[in-house]
Amino acid sequence: MATDISILGLGLMGSALAGTLLKAGHRVTVWNRSAAKAEPLAAQGAAVAATAAEAVLASPLVIVCVLDYAATRQLLDGADLAGRTVLNLTNGRPAEARETAAWVTGLGGDYLDGGIMAVPQMIGAPGALILYSGSPAAFDRHEPALTALAEPRYLGEDPGLAPLYDLAMLTGMYGQFAGFLSAAALIASERRSVAEFTESLLVPWLHAMAAITPPMGTQIDAADHATDVANLEVNRVALANLETTFREQGVRPDLLLPLKAIVDRRVAGGHGAEDLSALVEELR
Ligand SMILES: NC(=O)c1ccc[n+]([C@@H]2O[C@H](COP(=O)([O-])OP(=O)(O)OC[C@H]3O[C@@H](n4cnc5c(N)ncnc54)[C@H](OP(=O)(O)O)[C@@H]3O)[C@@H](O)[C@H]2O)c1
Repeated sequence: MATDISILGLGLMGSALAGTLLKAGHRVTVWNRSAAKAEPLAAQGAAVAATAAEAVLASPLVIVCVLDYAATRQLLDGADLAGRTVLNLTNGRPAEARETAAWVTGLGGDYLDGGIMAVPQMIGAPGALILYSGSPAAFDRHEPALTALAEPRYLGEDPGLAPLYDLAMLTGMYGQFAGFLSAAALIASERRSVAEFTESLLVPWLHAMAAITPPMGTQIDAADHATDVANLEVNRVALANLETTFREQGVRPDLLLPLKAIVDRRVAGGHGAEDLSALVEELR
């Protein structure tokens, strides 16, 4: 069913969100600080608001997708938020989401926060995921329209949950990139093809290792770090070999050293027989 939706912020992501909602048949009003970015969307049928406050008035669902929460607050300041749902898809911290939720609800609006687990090209296509948290009633009301953007995953009423999970997902991603970049530097140190190594060896290996992380999650939830896979003492030796080999190859092991330090500390504390999952006890 076509609904009225406003989008504030037409950068790469905001433009993709607006374009996808237009294609899905919704009535879309857009606003951006630099007006020129609204032109391609106007050509696709979007209404262009002259001010952010005017865009807020145009629709019951107001999506904000800008650089940071300071910009979010700045552009909503003075707008009449009563009866509106503000959905903030701007990347931020749980504490900022909670503060913004309190501010919006204090002005009579509903608040949803969201974490976009996709790049602009993925919006509206299979594989895109958006995490939501905040007002359950607002999520229920707008879920049918939001489904056009990505698979929606509602995490709970605490508005800080979507940014928390978003940042946890990014943490996993950056850890994977840190491993990939270190491995690539090691292979490149022998002038071997990184592309071939990545495709034929590393990616299948990472898939296999990803498959053993859900059982590790179960162990962490239960604080049971017994292992029949590989103990920390074995991992300590492997990481020591990595560090020495990196140095011998003239490659910086910097991205791996923090992990090695935590393994060393856990083993020195008498926990060498435990699973890798036990490192979470050192982190929290
Ligand atoms: N791109 C991605 O792959 C991706 C993926 C997931 C999540 N996100 C999140 O989506 C959000 C937007 O990212 P993007 O890639 O669209 O960034 P972008 O292309 O750099 O666009 C930034 C947007 O923020 C606006 N903006 C910045 N400061 C502002 C201010 N003080 N007042 C009003 N508007 C302001 C810009 O307006 P002007 O055009 O006037 O400069 C522009 O519309 C970020 O939080 C990002 O983390 C992006």
